[in-house]
Amino acid sequence: MLIEFKNVSVERDRRVVLTDLNLTLSEQRIGIIGPNGSGKSSLVRLCNGLLLPKTGQVWVDGLDTANDVAAVRRKVGFVFQNPDNQIVFPVVHEDIEFGLKRRESDPKRRTLRAQVALELLGVGHLTERSVHTLSGGERQLVALAAVLATEPEILVFDEPTTQLDLRLRNRFERHLAGLPQPALVVSHDLVLMQQMNRVLVIDQGRLAFDGAPTEALDWYQAHCA
Ligand SMILES: Nc1ncnc2c1ncn2[C@@H]1O[C@H](COP(=O)(O)OP(=O)(O)O)[C@@H](O)[C@H]1O
Ligand SMILES: [Mg+2]
Repeated sequence: MLIEFKNVSVERDRRVVLTDLNLTLSEQRIGIIGPNGSGKSSLVRLCNGLLLPKTGQVWVDGLDTANDVAAVRRKVGFVFQNPDNQIVFPVVHEDIEFGLKRRESDPKRRTLRAQVALELLGVGHLTERSVHTLSGGERQLVALAAVLATEPEILVFDEPTTQLDLRLRNRFERHLAGLPQPALVVSHDLVLMQQMNRVLVIDQGRLAFDGAPTEALDWYQAHCA
């Protein structure tokens, strides 16, 4: 993965929410921490063209997100903070299978891939469930399974563990460790951050610290706690 931010600033509702970001992201696991409202979700949304910069450019493996949104979206799998923004079909397996339509023309193989993705996260039993009957944690895992099933080249997780209990959170941590793709992970889970190769601290729309997990967490606790 190579994601580059060149002089990027972002506005939302005519308010600047990210200022002058210059970043080259090439590590396998990159964590992003920072206070609520600091701009973490905005930063990761730039990586798959969900949000476009007001100034500057974001390049994903040589694709300018402003010019190649469709190609960028195919490359970057994005797991939303709120699974309700992502799950659109009423039954779990239908939702996951729908996301596979472009990649897998055979419906039987779509069903199989959906089932495997659920099983890998330990929630294979949910496949026939109505999404309205799922708990928050189950919904989060289904949203995760839906993205992982598509086997994107790059993964972005926006606060993936917020609704998971300790057991499911631990399972997610192990699962993440075994995924072959590079990943950007926004999280307040400081233990999860220790697994990263590099951690960015975002504060008030700026890159406030960039370094190894231990130093980044020390900086965060000293300045933002
Ligand atoms: N859809 C939106 N419209 C307007 N402002 C938004 C929107 N989403 C986020 N913001 C604002 O942008 C800033 C950064 O938000 P966000 O990137 O979501 O931060 P974080 O993920 O760190 O909590 C906040 O001030 C937030 O209120
Ligand atoms: Mg956020």
